[in-house]
Amino acid sequence: MQIPRLHPDTIEEIRHRADIVDIVSEYVVLRKRGKDFVGLCPFHDEKSPSFTVSQTKQMYHCFGCEAGGNAIKFVMEVGKRSFADVVLELARRYQVPIQTLEPEQRQELQRQLSLREQLYEILATTAHFYQHVLKQSQGHKALQYLQSDRQLTPATIQQFGLGYAPTGWETLSRYLVDNKNYPASLVEQAGLIKPRKEGGGYYDVFRDRLMIPIRDVQGRVIGFGGRTLSDEQPKYLNSPETELFSKGKTLFALDQAKSGISQLDQAVVVEGYFDAIALHAAGVNNAVASLGTALSVEQVKLVLRYTESKQLVLNFDADQAGTNATTRAIAQIANLAYNGEIQLKILNIPDGKDADEYLRQHTPADYQQLLANAPLWLNWQIQQITKDCDLREATDFQQVTQQIVKLLKNIANSDTRNYYISHCAEILSLGDTRLIPLRVENLLTQIAPKATYSQPITQKRNGQKPSLTAVPTSDRGLLERAEALLLKIYLHCPQQRQDILDTLEARDLQFSLSHHRFLWQQILEIPATIATNLVSHMQDRYLDFPEEVELISHLFHLSEKSQKDDMVRTPKGIKTAIACMERVLREKRYRHFLELWEQTDPDTQPEQWQSYYQAFYAEKLRLQELERERQFTITDLI
Ligand code: UTP
Ligand code: MN
Repeated sequence: MQIPRLHPDTIEEIRHRADIVDIVSEYVVLRKRGKDFVGLCPFHDEKSPSFTVSQTKQMYHCFGCEAGGNAIKFVMEVGKRSFADVVLELARRYQVPIQTLEPEQRQELQRQLSLREQLYEILATTAHFYQHVLKQSQGHKALQYLQSDRQLTPATIQQFGLGYAPTGWETLSRYLVDNKNYPASLVEQAGLIKPRKEGGGYYDVFRDRLMIPIRDVQGRVIGFGGRTLSDEQPKYLNSPETELFSKGKTLFALDQAKSGISQLDQAVVVEGYFDAIALHAAGVNNAVASLGTALSVEQVKLVLRYTESKQLVLNFDADQAGTNATTRAIAQIANLAYNGEIQLKILNIPDGKDADEYLRQHTPADYQQLLANAPLWLNWQIQQITKDCDLREATDFQQVTQQIVKLLKNIANSDTRNYYISHCAEILSLGDTRLIPLRVENLLTQIAPKATYSQPITQKRNGQKPSLTAVPTSDRGLLERAEALLLKIYLHCPQQRQDILDTLEARDLQFSLSHHRFLWQQILEIPATIATNLVSHMQDRYLDFPEEVELISHLFHLSEKSQKDDMVRTPKGIKTAIACMERVLREKRYRHFLELWEQTDPDTQPEQWQSYYQAFYAEKLRLQELERERQFTITDLI
């Protein structure tokens, strides 16, 4: 559309008549504060209201993002619309006559405006027509259906303006075109009639259907849903996309629900027309229906205008199709939910029912109960992920873990993320609290902030691959003492030697520190026959290795005190020393496999990923066992 040059008087008049509080209230929940009104700014993200509207000045201002202006500017910004577009809409709404600077533009503008106006009028007339027919004898069957099958009261039928489209092919067409003199082309543009392929003329789109008017936020009829009363397909026939009606941008019953939504500060979104109608009839007057499409971001944003704390409950059918639709809807709006822009809950009615069926067998209070207990969307997703799984099965467990990690890693708020990590850890641990820290840790490793996660660990360590042999310095002292104790016992207590040999072999353990490994090698080379005097043999041997002896010579001597103590505690000492050695080794292996696992992409190398997972997991389990077995603290070692 060519940009019209409106006469300044027109704009002035619009400014004069259009009340900013009225206009802003359509998008923002406003509360009166002193002389002004405040609400959550629609132009930026905020948790406490800094958006102020002054009725006396007819201006808005946000103290958070500095947005501000008059009513026209507001509608332009919020709807990303042009000045001309907004002015025309406001002119129509507040019935301001349009004057342009060029007189010839005026006619074109009036025509544009009147097209929409006329479509509204045709649709309103049609809705009345269908309502009227419902009460005639031809509508008897439909009325019967509403009252007995659907158990709707006359008041509800009236409230939603339900009607009936008669059986004939041209009933509506004749009524609108012949009786009411609307141009057939306009009736066609309203989506109510279609041109015949042959022979000219038009036929009615809706025939022998129960008619549900679809209204915009302001309550104007913009289209229809028509339900068959037989098993004809489709079950619901909807208005085509028109100048006024767009399925993906409309929510059924929003006009009825908007005040309920702002009062309760929560919106319930159902799938079906009759779900919404039944809910309103049951007093749940914050319900809207998504018209059976996958809920769009636009629809969500539309409904969220009316809730301050952005609470949305999705109550789709609980059958498989409904569950899939819920999952799709969540996927659409997950970004909003992850960022905390909406507080999303999921209500699944038991036994796969939809809200309408449920309310025919239960009381409104029962429904309210379900509503109050609806889980947060992440909890619902977690339930879905875990529901048919046996977490004791390794494959199930890993699959579930993988999915949960995907689910949780996008949570923006770290407190929320941590909460869910421990929550999931608890689920994954199957109530075995010993495993909780482990699984939390595993999850955390994967969910760690991108920066550390994506940086290859090999780079962090100067290009070295993670190694199984390097002993972290923090473990050295412990290992030094543990290995020394074991060697000392071996050297000085012949009756313990077999036990030590057996245990080391059974646990596949070796001495890690080189001077101990060297000593152990020497020990094993001494033939059993002369091993009775092991210490002096070893002292002789070390004469050949003067540099080595310094590190181990202390093992050849027992002070009187330590001799006494060690003899008393040898069995315990062996156990502790070996447990320490194993722990250090297992920790090394755990870190090694964990690092490899972190560097493996589960999507491209699922088997590798799984085997590293199993490896580090096994190490970790063994570490926990060791932790429980541990009877001595480090200081118990000499
Ligand atoms: P359902 O098939 O679940 O409808 O579709 P419903 O409301 O439960 O059906 P009844 O009347 O109780 O048997 C949910 C919504 O999907 C859209 C409609 O908006 C419907 O209310 N839909 C469904 C269509 O648009 N066309 C169809 O053919 C079916
Ligand atoms: Mn349904």
